[in-house]
Amino acid sequence: MLDLFADEHPWQEPLGPGAAILRRFAVARAETLLADIANVAAVSPFRQMVTPGGYTMSVAMTNCGTLGWTTDQHGYLYASTDPQTSQRWPAMPESFRALADSAAREAGYPDFRPDACLINRYSVGSKLSLHQDKDEHELRAPIVSVSLGLPAIFQFGGLSRSDPLHRVLLEHGDVVVWGGESRLFYHGVQPLKEGFHPATGRYRFNLTFRQAGKSE
Ligand code: SIN
Ligand code: FE2
Repeated sequence: MLDLFADEHPWQEPLGPGAAILRRFAVARAETLLADIANVAAVSPFRQMVTPGGYTMSVAMTNCGTLGWTTDQHGYLYASTDPQTSQRWPAMPESFRALADSAAREAGYPDFRPDACLINRYSVGSKLSLHQDKDEHELRAPIVSVSLGLPAIFQFGGLSRSDPLHRVLLEHGDVVVWGGESRLFYHGVQPLKEGFHPATGRYRFNLTFRQAGKSE
């Protein structure tokens, strides 16, 4: 079953100014990526974070890298330690780093040096409301976002929340890269539909790579 997907060659679809979908780009490495997700989660477990407004997010999250995206009563922030374990977030696995580098390069961003990887786990009904990724220091660096497992509908808009949305189905191994003019575009994920994927069962995983801290 998995070999069937691995035989498909990746292709690229434009999504907006500075933004592209690299279809199936990560398929051939999915098994390693999923094993490394499990390794990270064994140290810093998936948890449903609570927003500053007191809302429990439906997506379960963890992080790896020198910085991790998290929440506290005051807001959203990048922190070098996991507030749940009081230890540093696990190091970014080499498989993650290599994928982020090659995907960014393929999309026209040759100098991507991510220091943060947010790992999202969606179960049935999990969603991410429209938002901008704007807590990062280095807005010249793109976002690299990897989809694994169950498909989900990704919404990609513009600089204003009310801009029209493109809706695209992201499937196992698809990678979305956005930067430049679209770096601060609103985006979100519609509620995950029930299903079963041979690689991830009832879940969808997403890796979001970012350059969050100051660049050297
Ligand atoms: C995100 O916006 O952080 C995640 C997007 C996704 O899950 O595809
Ligand atoms: Fe985001």
